[in-house]
Amino acid sequence: MRPQYFTTPIYYVNGKPHIGHAYSTVATDLLVRYAKVRGHHTRFLTGTDEHGQKVERKATEEGLSPKAFVDRLIPDFVSAWKAMGCEYDDFIRTTDARHEAFVAELWKRSVANGDIYLGEYEGWYSAADEAYVTEKDIENGRSKETGALVEKVKEPTYFFRLSGYGDRLMTFYETHPDFVVPDGRFNEVKSFVKEGLRDLAVSRPSVRWGIPVPGDPEHTIYVWFDALSNYVSALCNGASMDTPNYQTFWPPTGRAVHVMGKEITRFHAVYWPAFLMSAGLPLPTQILAHGWMTVNGEKMSKTAGNFLPPEPIADAVGTDTLRYYFMREIALGQDGDFSHKNLLARYHGDLGNGLGNLLNRMVASIVQKSFDGFVPAAGEITELETTVIETAKRASDNSRKHLDAMQPHKALEAIWELVSATNKYIDLTEPWKLAKGDEHTPRLGTVAYTVLEALRWLSVMLWPVMPTKSDAIRDQLGLTPLMPTVSLDLWPSVWGGLAAGTKTRPGAALFPRFDEDGERAVMARMGVELPPKDGAAPKKAKPEKAPKAASTETTSETKTDKPALPEGLIGIDDLMKVEMKLGLVLAGERVPKSDKLLELKIDIGEAEPRTILAGIGQHYEPEALVGRRLAVVANLPPRPMMGRVSQGMVLAVSDANGLSVLSPDKDITPGVRVK
Ligand code: MSP
Repeated sequence: MRPQYFTTPIYYVNGKPHIGHAYSTVATDLLVRYAKVRGHHTRFLTGTDEHGQKVERKATEEGLSPKAFVDRLIPDFVSAWKAMGCEYDDFIRTTDARHEAFVAELWKRSVANGDIYLGEYEGWYSAADEAYVTEKDIENGRSKETGALVEKVKEPTYFFRLSGYGDRLMTFYETHPDFVVPDGRFNEVKSFVKEGLRDLAVSRPSVRWGIPVPGDPEHTIYVWFDALSNYVSALCNGASMDTPNYQTFWPPTGRAVHVMGKEITRFHAVYWPAFLMSAGLPLPTQILAHGWMTVNGEKMSKTAGNFLPPEPIADAVGTDTLRYYFMREIALGQDGDFSHKNLLARYHGDLGNGLGNLLNRMVASIVQKSFDGFVPAAGEITELETTVIETAKRASDNSRKHLDAMQPHKALEAIWELVSATNKYIDLTEPWKLAKGDEHTPRLGTVAYTVLEALRWLSVMLWPVMPTKSDAIRDQLGLTPLMPTVSLDLWPSVWGGLAAGTKTRPGAALFPRFDEDGERAVMARMGVELPPKDGAAPKKAKPEKAPKAASTETTSETKTDKPALPEGLIGIDDLMKVEMKLGLVLAGERVPKSDKLLELKIDIGEAEPRTILAGIGQHYEPEALVGRRLAVVANLPPRPMMGRVSQGMVLAVSDANGLSVLSPDKDITPGVRVK
């Protein structure tokens, strides 16, 4: 197996990291973790791009030396990647002595090869992009591609003879058809090269903050020549490539994948290979260009003030939720949107209702009650189990294929087939009916085992995306955290790995529900102010002394001035006073000495389930209600009954045919309002 080396772009340190950066780093972390689970020897590099005009200017604005300025920002990157659960092996800074020594070596090799010469550059430069821009790519003083301001420069410059590399690059592309993914980006790269390459300016005499050109310290090396070299410098010992890391991870022995945003594909797929060819070094294996993220539909920009830092979001919804959201919502390679609303919808839907519910339904209730918390042995299997097993195998094969092709969103879709199939399996087998008090049928063992084993498969397949939650699932199943080991492929393929007799450890809900207030609090932690509850007018200071007629606001006072309703009718405001919510029954038992009263534990989207007493015991066995969704009234005062206290009311209808609880015919999220 070839060792696998993955890199993120190195980030400019002219500001703090934002969710766009976090997306690049999480995508890389996912690919590394997947390679680990498959038994590969991996290395994960990230770092910071610290030289150049942009940083130099920003530091001056702040009255600091460039080094003091960048040093101050590094901890923000380190803590952001920690908050995102990204575990890199090395963090390279372009101001590291080891890096500077390597860049000088690369430069000298190109000089020795006759590829660097002194000339004069006259043209345009964009400091924001740290890029030379040609006349045809400028409109109204800005780069057409990025919108960044450009400025005229006329200075002596060292040039790299890029024009001599067009044919070699094209031959390389032809022989490496997967060099750039996705294909669309590769086509752009090829067209760019086919149009004809011009020599590239690779030094700046006017920028002091950079690596001096060997033998001509009046010039500093252009930031991109400097920055791209990080991918190799981090494996070397200064100028020396004679290191175990270089020998192991750089091609041809290793597979080297650079992950980055689409806007910097050209630097990676054209300039970087040419620099390496010139230095006589092998090229990376692959360039993965991901798309760009908007925030709630808007482009990220200073004016919109939406360079969101990742940490508050990860703190509010959990690191793994944000990782999952990035990887599921935005197809790697395509543009996408980050939306707070969709993030919470995925949290409640895919994660809470889908995955979390599965664990909760089986480990927290049935396994504890009927098997003293031990994994039961499976008995004879039926078509229903075969369906789950086949779905698991399909999910495993397909997700593996998609991850091999670096398409995590498709892998997650494939994995979610198993989540849904297993939830459906529980609905069909109705395990709560197979468990009667302390007794249970042998069939229940098979059902419980099937669900637990499916969860074990999920805990492996989801580990690259959600390492902490996957280990939490494993812990509840009584397993140790996943420990990827070199040469051991852990991707699930054999059904039945969970040993009967394993002691489960029921734990906290994986994705606890937020009720309306909870959601408001979570949004606030992410910096989003929701409109006030129930469509009421926003609370504004009342114009106390102003006469009512002058008010343009719809206040509660003006509402009472509305014409009275005909007798017997109520207004919508009155209806909204009754807080009717959808609940999910988690557990139920009979209240002793009563044949009518059941005590139910119902999840209505709050931190703790409600205890609700319902007089429906002559019509329902409590176990039959576990897992069902019911309408409940949530804002009645607590009511003592038969020595217990009810915290709400279950809604039901009855006539001569019997009694029926009100239950939706779809898996609607518990906690939503009935209206
Ligand atoms: N320093 C260079 C990279 C040098 S690599 C040898 C650079 N840095 S950057 O900080 O500007 O951007 C780093 C990464 O963040 C890029 O991959 C870029 O695509 C990504 N993102 C920045 N904003 C983004 C979005 N709005 N959406 C997704 N990713 C974006 O470029």
